[in-house]
Amino acid sequence: MSEPVLTRRQFLKRSFSKWLGLGLISITGFYSYAIETKWIEIEKLSLTIPHLPDAFQNLRIVHFSDLHIGLSYDPEDLPTVLDQIQALNPDLLCFTGDLVTDDTSMLPATVPFFKKLQAPFGKFAVLGNHDYRHSAENVKKCLQQSGFHVLLNSHQMIEKDGSRLAIVGVDDQVEGVPDLEKAWHQQQNVATILLSHCPDFADIAAKYPIALQLSGHSHGGQVRLPLIGHIVTPPFAKKYVQGLYSVPQSSLQVYVNRGLGTTLLPIRFHCRPQISVIELTVDKHFANQ
Ligand SMILES: [Fe+2]
Repeated sequence: MSEPVLTRRQFLKRSFSKWLGLGLISITGFYSYAIETKWIEIEKLSLTIPHLPDAFQNLRIVHFSDLHIGLSYDPEDLPTVLDQIQALNPDLLCFTGDLVTDDTSMLPATVPFFKKLQAPFGKFAVLGNHDYRHSAENVKKCLQQSGFHVLLNSHQMIEKDGSRLAIVGVDDQVEGVPDLEKAWHQQQNVATILLSHCPDFADIAAKYPIALQLSGHSHGGQVRLPLIGHIVTPPFAKKYVQGLYSVPQSSLQVYVNRGLGTTLLPIRFHCRPQISVIELTVDKHFANQ
């Protein structure tokens, strides 16, 4: 008499497990696709920089990367994210590449939105591998029309009260030819910030007296498993994947932003899109040397 009850329990147990598993997969899939991809994290950090002049004490850099317009964002989505960037009151805006994924046709429609971004010391950008792959000229034109200085193996000085800070940008490591020698004629005792789409370029930059490298490209791996971390990252984003690193045996710090968009799969898990606010402080050890 008890056998049919047991069978029924087993049946219910198995059915419950199966539906629970399917439910969890569906919820995780929905969350990764529809929620986390739009759930932007604002990360704030303070960095001490050798040779930073007093005039630039507390300079606020707002750093964003990898928008992937066309796949992750349409032009009409931009005001929401750009308003968040502007609300952070940047002194200096840095974009580290991959404005598009594979289509540049909608870029003219984005210019009015990007134009509204304002920062007293300027807006600077480098191109990413997707930008190079599909139409570097169109991406460069859009950024320039939007008021960005596009640094392609070049640099620009910003100045305040007679003090200077060098902003250097190199070409993408995957599709371009980064050339630091060409980009930056080394000037001793000038604090230098490098923009490089690929974070692993830091191993080359570390040979130069550069204080800080800002990068994107990795997307943080997009999917990060608890205790394990990222599963896969693109070439030249294998060593420096997300957050702040001190490059060994050098004075270089590299900061990797996880980006705002996605590639390959339009999902993120435990790896929220990100806008970073980096406040620079004077290293008293080097001050006034
Ligand atoms: Fe990217």
